[in-house]
Amino acid sequence: MNPEERLKNISQSDIRKAFDKTCEDIGLTETKLELVTEDRYPEVLEILRDCFINDEPLEKSLQLQWSSEMAGVWLNALQHNMSILLVNNENNEIIGVRVIRVTRKTDQFEKDKCKDEQVLKLLNFFDYTTDTFDFFRKYNVSEIFEFFGLGVVSKYRRRGYGTLLMEAGVKLINNLEIKPCFIRGSASSNFAKTIFEKCEFETVADFPYCDYNVEDCIVFDDTGEHKSMTVYSKCLE
Ligand SMILES: CC(C)(COP(=O)(O)OP(=O)(O)OC[C@H]1O[C@@H](n2cnc3c(N)ncnc32)[C@H](O)[C@@H]1OP(=O)(O)O)[C@@H](O)C(=O)NCCC(=O)NCCS
Repeated sequence: MNPEERLKNISQSDIRKAFDKTCEDIGLTETKLELVTEDRYPEVLEILRDCFINDEPLEKSLQLQWSSEMAGVWLNALQHNMSILLVNNENNEIIGVRVIRVTRKTDQFEKDKCKDEQVLKLLNFFDYTTDTFDFFRKYNVSEIFEFFGLGVVSKYRRRGYGTLLMEAGVKLINNLEIKPCFIRGSASSNFAKTIFEKCEFETVADFPYCDYNVEDCIVFDDTGEHKSMTVYSKCLE
């Protein structure tokens, strides 16, 4: 089967096998990895809400409020059933989440149903970055794995867990044995950029926030030290 078709038809049992191998490869003791299953969605959404609304530079700059529309964007990604959680063995608390999905060239956000202006601003920016830098065309593919969001609960930050979740995500995809394949990731903060670079992703595009205007207004005007969104790529072969 051609790799493109395998990506489209990836089964839950293939994901589970690759995940089990990933856990063996990494061999954690104080923490454990879990595949995000439906029963975990409510807790995972809460973590994504706290991490992104409070601390992700673009959502913070827009003063985005949590809404069913925002939850819908995340749920859509979680439903690919290949996202990973890191859990503390001592107290069973969730430490963080690496959201992973398959993205097809033809996929689009359902913006026509979106009534929240701030969410629309965010989705429009994502569309602007993906239209300006055509990842699919560059690599001549129609499907890719996408690292859609990374969040670590604030009290667990700066202990290497974000990097661990990123590495686990790469290993999971590697263990799926669908080669060659590409991972796309976008980092809106300097911290996420450091993690992509530590994990040896290649920088393929950069979008300074000060250059992104809509009707002559800068959309993200208060992103602090975080000045651009960088798009990263990794090819697994
Ligand atoms: C980004 C995020 C996932 C990082 O999680 P983390 O577990 O703290 O990451 P790590 O501990 O693996 O940090 C890796 C490196 O990033 C850099 N970094 C991370 N947080 C930092 C901070 N607050 N200040 C400065 N550098 C930081 C450091 O270089 C760090 O390595 P070091 O501690 O060895 O110096 C977390 O801050 C978060 O959830 N933020 C809110 C959501 C978000 O912005 N997600 C990314 C959007 S694309």
